Amino acid sequence: MKPSAIVYTSNTGFTTQYASLLGGETGLPVYSLEDALKSLPQSSPIVYLGWLTAGKVQGYDKAVTKFNLQALCAVGMAKSGFQMEDVKKSNNLPQGLPLFTLQGGFDLKKLRGIYRLMMLVMSKTVAKKLAAKPDRTPDEEDMLDLFQNGGNRVSLENLRPVLAWYEGERV
Ligand SMILES: Cc1cc2nc3c(=O)[nH]c(=O)nc-3n(C[C@H](O)[C@H](O)[C@H](O)COP(=O)(O)O)c2cc1C
Repeated sequence: MKPSAIVYTSNTGFTTQYASLLGGETGLPVYSLEDALKSLPQSSPIVYLGWLTAGKVQGYDKAVTKFNLQALCAVGMAKSGFQMEDVKKSNNLPQGLPLFTLQGGFDLKKLRGIYRLMMLVMSKTVAKKLAAKPDRTPDEEDMLDLFQNGGNRVSLENLRPVLAWYEGERV
């Protein structure tokens, strides 16, 4: 079934950017989860986008209870198409729910409280480990760069598989 809206949860803005890009390409209205819960009818068919926190897609549990999810986009730090099985397992996703993992970005300046603290620790541990690795893959190089310098990896290119799925859906 074609979705009738795009709903998202974002903390530092990268998922918002993907939701807007997807809205621009499909012509579908875009809502934050908070707004969608107030204004969209129960069981509306939607595409849901949420940012990843330790494997969990933020807002997924709420979104799946209220709406009829047609596809899920998990926005994280790793390259698009990463960790599909991990995300499925950690979020207990139903078989058959189309899942897309998208590379967002990292902006420590925008993080507050516990999230900031967690990422400071992650930067120290993961980045240190990566920095010490002599034979880094291009993906590891990219992850290290993100941790050390921050950055925005949102692109229309990353959304291509989502758009291809959308085009294939029947009304
Ligand atoms: C506390 C915390 C935990 C995170 N855990 C993950 C993770 O498990 N996997 C991942 O790929 N990215 C992880 N990230 C990175 C964010 O998902 C990434 O920065 C994303 O682009 C944030 O999207 P937003 O700008 O919409 O909030 C984590 C970030 C924070 C702050």
